[in-house]
Amino acid sequence: MTQFKSLFVTRLYQATLASKGAVDPAELENSCLVIADDDEAGQEWCEANDFPGYTSYASLTDLPWRFPIFADVVKALDAHVAAFAADAGYDLDGKELKLEDIWINILPEGGIHTAHIHPHSVISGTTYVAMPKDTSAIKFEDPRLAMMMAAPGRAKDVDESLRQFVYVQPNVGDVLLWESWLRHEVPMNMSEEERISVSFNYSWG
Ligand SMILES: [Fe+2]
Repeated sequence: MTQFKSLFVTRLYQATLASKGAVDPAELENSCLVIADDDEAGQEWCEANDFPGYTSYASLTDLPWRFPIFADVVKALDAHVAAFAADAGYDLDGKELKLEDIWINILPEGGIHTAHIHPHSVISGTTYVAMPKDTSAIKFEDPRLAMMMAAPGRAKDVDESLRQFVYVQPNVGDVLLWESWLRHEVPMNMSEEERISVSFNYSWG
């Protein structure tokens, strides 16, 4: 008998956001643009920190309370996160996975988000609001890379589950979820148009 098993699997969840709660995509896109335009504190933070484009991360901590469309997004996200947690087999011990932060990202042509993890959270993810043609995929990195210093690289045509870097090109209206320790980056936006997304963290307890 010969058998290959996959152990210590890294899950990535992809679904249509609206499959678990109605969200008007046009209203969401418009709201992101209007909020970015009005948020002078956020614009100043981006400027001071050499952040390409706009993020509301440092300036607006209450999007779902201020804007009903973000309350709709969170309602849908809660259901997606519950599905992810069930698939992951988490024993939540009677405590909930709760939204910790949710923020807008607007990445202009030439902008990048360098590789990072989301500390202090359990599940993180992004829902995609505007994904122009030729804009960046999101790139995920094998969390065991540091342990592979003597291992050969992988063949180009190897199955996706065995690759060390995986690029995912979501559609507008998709939501991606992953565990918050998984390093990811957004390579350079090669589109002339803005790439708009809404990212979030869920914590436990
Ligand atoms: Fe991120």
